[in-house]
Amino acid sequence: MFNPLKPSQEINPSILYYGTPVILLSSWNEDGTTNLSPLSSSWALGRSIVLGIGQGGQALANLQERPDCVINVPGPDLWPAVERLAPFTGKEEVPAAKAAAGFTYKKDKFETSNLTPVPSISVQAARIAECPLQIEACVRKITNPSSSDSFAIVETEAIRIHAHPDILLNERHVDPAKWSPLIYNFRHYFGLGEELGKTFRSET
Ligand SMILES: Cc1cc2nc3c(=O)[nH]c(=O)nc-3n(C[C@H](O)[C@H](O)[C@H](O)COP(=O)(O)O)c2cc1C
Repeated sequence: MFNPLKPSQEINPSILYYGTPVILLSSWNEDGTTNLSPLSSSWALGRSIVLGIGQGGQALANLQERPDCVINVPGPDLWPAVERLAPFTGKEEVPAAKAAAGFTYKKDKFETSNLTPVPSISVQAARIAECPLQIEACVRKITNPSSSDSFAIVETEAIRIHAHPDILLNERHVDPAKWSPLIYNFRHYFGLGEELGKTFRSET
């Protein structure tokens, strides 16, 4: 526990990724193939899942044209696969800003990551077999945040949710003791620690 009496320091951090789950977003390219994009900016409320996606990448270009996608949620063991995808974009003409940051073009992200495609049921983009949670979703709205024009806020609606049987308690509940996400914490990968407790509304 940090000493709460010690005064905080005001900082100007270069990034503000304070620890959110990694997702691998499947979107589909014009030729029907699936592009995979690691993202950490997402949150869920009811059946809505909101994504923060950078302009200039292939994920946003795909979703603007073809609104269906899959939100694949990897566990901590998949961090090397996520990191294999990290330096690549599915955008053939790599935007200058991305090129300057070291990104290069890669068409086949499944081959690059050594992950396995599984056909989806309601959407064209493929799911990732190794991800214990796979959420088929459809884009409902794309807007720009008022603070920046380099990102878009993409609101999606979950259509079908697939879960690996090993993380389930029953048909309606994921077992939190068996499932844990991969966390992106200021550009480092972490798993979750031990359980601390549960909220009064927990059904498990
Ligand atoms: C762990 C991780 C988390 C990331 N989170 C985001 C994110 O939330 N939003 C985003 O636009 N890019 C994020 N990126 C960067 C994208 O993955 C990167 O721009 C990639 O080139 C996108 O691929 P695409 O152009 O084929 O869509 C993240 C990268 C990594 C490795």
